[in-house]
Amino acid sequence: MELQFNSEFWWGAATSGPQSEGRFHKKHANQYDYWYETKPEEFYNYVGPDTASNFYNSFKEDIALMKEVGLNSVRTSIQWSRLIDDLEEGTVNEDGVRFYNEVIDEFLKNNIRPIVNLCHFDIPIELYQKYGGWESKYVVDLYVKFAAQCFRFFGDRVVDWITFNEPIVIVSGGYLSQSHFPKLKDGKKAVQVAYNLQLASAKCIELFRKTNKNPNGRIGIILNLTPSYPATNNEEDQKAAQFADLWANRLFLDASIKGEFPEELLQILKKDNVLWKTTYEELKIIKENTIDYLGVNYYHPHRVQKPAVSSNSLAIEWTPELYYNDYDMPGRRMNMDRNWEIYPQAIYDIAKNIKENYGNIPWFVSENGMGVSREERFLDEKGVIQDDYRIQYISEHLYWLKKGIEKGSNCFGYHMWTPIDCWSWSNAYKNRYGFISNNISTQIKTIKKSGYWFKEVAESGMIRMPDEWKSFEKLENKKTI
Ligand code: GAL
Repeated sequence: MELQFNSEFWWGAATSGPQSEGRFHKKHANQYDYWYETKPEEFYNYVGPDTASNFYNSFKEDIALMKEVGLNSVRTSIQWSRLIDDLEEGTVNEDGVRFYNEVIDEFLKNNIRPIVNLCHFDIPIELYQKYGGWESKYVVDLYVKFAAQCFRFFGDRVVDWITFNEPIVIVSGGYLSQSHFPKLKDGKKAVQVAYNLQLASAKCIELFRKTNKNPNGRIGIILNLTPSYPATNNEEDQKAAQFADLWANRLFLDASIKGEFPEELLQILKKDNVLWKTTYEELKIIKENTIDYLGVNYYHPHRVQKPAVSSNSLAIEWTPELYYNDYDMPGRRMNMDRNWEIYPQAIYDIAKNIKENYGNIPWFVSENGMGVSREERFLDEKGVIQDDYRIQYISEHLYWLKKGIEKGSNCFGYHMWTPIDCWSWSNAYKNRYGFISNNISTQIKTIKKSGYWFKEVAESGMIRMPDEWKSFEKLENKKTI
């Protein structure tokens, strides 16, 4: 079976400043630098963000490798803590400007379209220590000052801007599940942070529209969508899945595309007395400044069942889990290294949802990928990692994406996480995702089998699905509800 995509399709990959660059411009630490300095034991094998994949020093060679694996577009992010010198005034650091200018120019020289994101979870740590980070609307305004400098210095060449990567992860990881800095468990703060992030995104869009002089310039947001599937058809499980969807997906989707938060969610937050503080002027900004295009990070679905605790239980602090519980569906296909379910068909459901409920806005898959540990297990005698599992994973997702496109969904590209194995909080370099492997002791980078394969895909716009993979189609069609 062959899947043919159109010739304009983006074939690319995504990375981020904090996960690839390594620490430069030491005036400000971001929260990862600080977290590692204070608690190095919380990072796999004690590996911190100070070198990452050395992109700051080796960006020319790295971009040449990205070219070699056929990428026609790449996302990275500009780090607030590296570009800005005086955080209150928003003045720039000269070396930061030089570095990001050179990176953008290098991408363009190689005919790679740079997609530039303004926040990949990173925030200067002082802004958390002084003001509570995203809990503060003052910090929202400082963020807009940073964005203004990005647009000013790079807007002549960057066409595709992104205001945030996965804002719900800042909310849930940082303020509920304690997997991200500042590792709090505070439902009320979580709700306010969610609102403040949406406000920050809308304020950046407002500024962009006022100042942008690039005729093709456009701005969007990247959301990690986790379609929610109820464990059974029982009403309680269905209600739980609806809430999970409201909280994890629709909160930012509706606000970013329709300019309004979902009414059902507002009612619940109000009833529970945790609704965010807002003003009429702010809601107007959110309403009037919606995105031009959407990036969707998709890794896994969300299997949901009725909550374990009752929302009437006043003794319990507010958490979205008052309304749903995760469901460990028997027999689901898992990537055990990351503990994430593999369910490519959800991409089709996402495509359909965007078409039917979000005005068929232009969108692309901005991340998808497979983190695998100890990939040296798969080295062949020539020193190439034989990551056939990754090729199959990507192909299966593209199969369902293509089906969505055939039904009219307005998807214009696919980006894999990530071009070159990079660093992550907590897991550090445990799981590898790249088309290109990185020996973190020597920083020697080597193309994996999937990288050579992707080059052919990008050049031809075509995926070949070998017969032995056809079985997955039946597997994915097996209904769970
Ligand atoms: C995403 C995130 C990336 C990357 C990826 C794989 O949620 O945007 O930064 O770490 O997960 O774990």
